[in-house]
Amino acid sequence: MSHVLSAVAWPYANGPRHIGHVAGFGVPSDVFSRYMRMRGHDVLMVSGTDEHGTPILVQADAEGVTPRELADRYNRMIVEDLAALGLTYDLFTRTTTRNHYAVAQELFRGVQRNGYLVEQTTRGAISPSTGRTLPDRFIEGTCPICGYDSARGDQCDNCGNQLDPTDLINPRSKINGETPEFVETQHFFLDLPALAEALGEWMHAKEAEGLWRPNVLRFSLNLLDDLRPRAMTRDLDWGIPVPGWEDQPTKRLYVWFDAVIGYLSASIEWARRTGDPEAWRQWWNDPQALSYYFMGKDNITFHAQIWPAELLGYDGKGAKGGEPGVYGDLQLPTEVVSSEFLTMEGKKFASSRGIVIYVRDMLARYQPDALRYFLLAAGPESQDTDFTWAEFVRRTNDEMVASWGNLVNRTANLVHKNFGEIPSAGELTDDDRGLLDATAAGFDTVGELIETHRQKHALAEAMRVVGLVNAYLSDQAPWKLKDDRERMATVLHVAVQAICDCRVLLSPFLPFSAQSVHETFGGTGVVSPMPEIREVDDLDGGPAYPVLMGDYTGFPRWESVPVVAGTPVGPPTPLFTKLDPSVVDDELARLRGETAS
Ligand code: MF3
Ligand code: ZN
Repeated sequence: MSHVLSAVAWPYANGPRHIGHVAGFGVPSDVFSRYMRMRGHDVLMVSGTDEHGTPILVQADAEGVTPRELADRYNRMIVEDLAALGLTYDLFTRTTTRNHYAVAQELFRGVQRNGYLVEQTTRGAISPSTGRTLPDRFIEGTCPICGYDSARGDQCDNCGNQLDPTDLINPRSKINGETPEFVETQHFFLDLPALAEALGEWMHAKEAEGLWRPNVLRFSLNLLDDLRPRAMTRDLDWGIPVPGWEDQPTKRLYVWFDAVIGYLSASIEWARRTGDPEAWRQWWNDPQALSYYFMGKDNITFHAQIWPAELLGYDGKGAKGGEPGVYGDLQLPTEVVSSEFLTMEGKKFASSRGIVIYVRDMLARYQPDALRYFLLAAGPESQDTDFTWAEFVRRTNDEMVASWGNLVNRTANLVHKNFGEIPSAGELTDDDRGLLDATAAGFDTVGELIETHRQKHALAEAMRVVGLVNAYLSDQAPWKLKDDRERMATVLHVAVQAICDCRVLLSPFLPFSAQSVHETFGGTGVVSPMPEIREVDDLDGGPAYPVLMGDYTGFPRWESVPVVAGTPVGPPTPLFTKLDPSVVDDELARLRGETAS
C-alpha cells in the first residue's frame, strides 16, 4: 500500500466553473482517487480556489466589488459545484487562508536561503500621464506567441501562454489607451538555469520510465530548452506579501509562487484539521510516496517546470547546493497528468461571449453521473474534443440509460416480481461461469487502465463488460423460464452477481448510481462516499470559510463480492433519466440567448 497524493489544479475564484474546467482537472482526478482508495492506498486529494492575481482583480473591477468579496462569492460557488459533482477531496480549501500564506512564505525563504531566488532589476510599466505603476491587469497588447490582439500583461487567453507585460507587442493601458512607459523595478527571479541540471535529470528519468502521456512528456521535455530566470514576484496590490518586502505593499508573490504551493499548504492544513499536524509528511517526505498532478494543458509549465524547480530549490538540490528547510526533503511529482481542451459546439469556451456551459446550470437540469459519463467517455483525455448537446443526449440515452440503467432495472424487476429476494443459484452452466469469469476479469483490465490514466479506455472496457451481461440476459431469457423456476433462479442470481461486479467497476466513474444500484439489490450502508461542505474557522485566526472534506473510509475493495441469496429486493426505481431529443434544441436556444421552453 502506498501513500498517494492526488494534487488537483487550483481553479481561479473569478467565476463559476464551466464543464471544460472540470473535464480537465476535476472528474479525472476523482476517478483516479476513488479507484486508488478502493485498492487500499492511502490517498490524499487536495486542492482549493486560487484567489489572487490579475484574473481576480480584473473580474472584481468588472463586478464592482473588492477582490475579497469576489473571492468569497466564487469560492463558495465552486465548492458547491464540486460537491454536487461528487469530487472526493480530502480537503478543498483556498489560497487566502493564513496557513497558505505562511507555507508559501516559508517555501520562498527556503528557496531564497539556498540561493535560487535572486533579486534582479527588470522593467515595469508606469502610466506616463500619472507617473504611477500600471498593474499587469491594466496592460493589454498583442501576444508575441500567437498574435492574439487582446493578450493581458500576465497571460494570453487565446494560446494560454504566460507572459510578462514587456513581452507584449504594442502594449497599451486599458484605462486610457496610452502606451505604458517601462521603468526599472526590482523583482525576485527563480534561478532556473541553476536548477537546470537537476530538473533535466528528473525529466529524463521520467522519460525513461515511459509512464507520462506522450503529449505531456514531449511538451515538458521541450521546456528544458528555455530555462531562463523567471520573475516570482509582481507589481500587484492583491496577493501574498513578499518576505523581506513587507514594506512594499505593491509587490506580491506571483501565482507561480502562490497557488502551486497550495498542494503542500492544503496537505498541511488537512493534517492540522484532522488532529495529526505532522501527518502530511507521509505524502511529501517519503521517497516511496506517489504524487499525481491533474490539470488542463495550459498548466503543464507550472507543474512540469516551475513547481519541481521550486521543490529542488527548497531541497537544496541545484547547482548551488543548499539544505532543506523545516518541511524537510520534499518529493517531486511522480506524474503530471494533463488533459487537452474541451471545446463547445466547435468553439473555444468563452464566458465573455456566452460560449459556456456552467457546471451548476448543467447539474440543475441533468444528473451528475450523466455529466461525468460524458466527460469521461468523450472528454479531452489525450486530444482536444468537442462537447455537443446532440452527443450528450446520444451518449446519455444510448449508452448510460440503454445499456447500464436498463440492465439494472430489468434485472431488479425480474428478481422482485419472481422472488422478492436474490434467489440462490443451482448448478452453474458454462455460460453462467463464462459470464462470471468475464466480470471478475474486469477488475484487472479496468483497474490497470485507470491506474495508467487511460480512463476513456477504462470506461469503455467496463461498458463492454456491461454489454456481456446484457447479452447473457437476452440469451438466457429468464422471463421465459416460468416453468423452470430453478433455472430461472440460477440465471437471475448470476445476473445479479454480474451486475454487482459491474457496479463496482463503474463506481469510480458513476459514483451516484453505484450507490443506487447497491440499494436496488438490497444493499445497506455507504459504498460510494461523497464529499461534504463544512464551514470551518481559519486555523490561525482569519475569517471562516467553507471547505470540502469527507469520510472516505467506506470505500469497498476493488474486487468481486459474492451477493447474498435471500437479500430482499423491492421494486426498482429507474437509475437514470432518459433525455428527450428536444433537449438539444432547447439547449442550443439557451446558448443563443433565447429562453428555452
Ligand atoms: N489558477 C491557476 C490557473 O488556473 C493555477 C492553477 S494550477 C496551480 O491557471 F498549480 F497553481 F494550482
Ligand atoms: Zn497567445
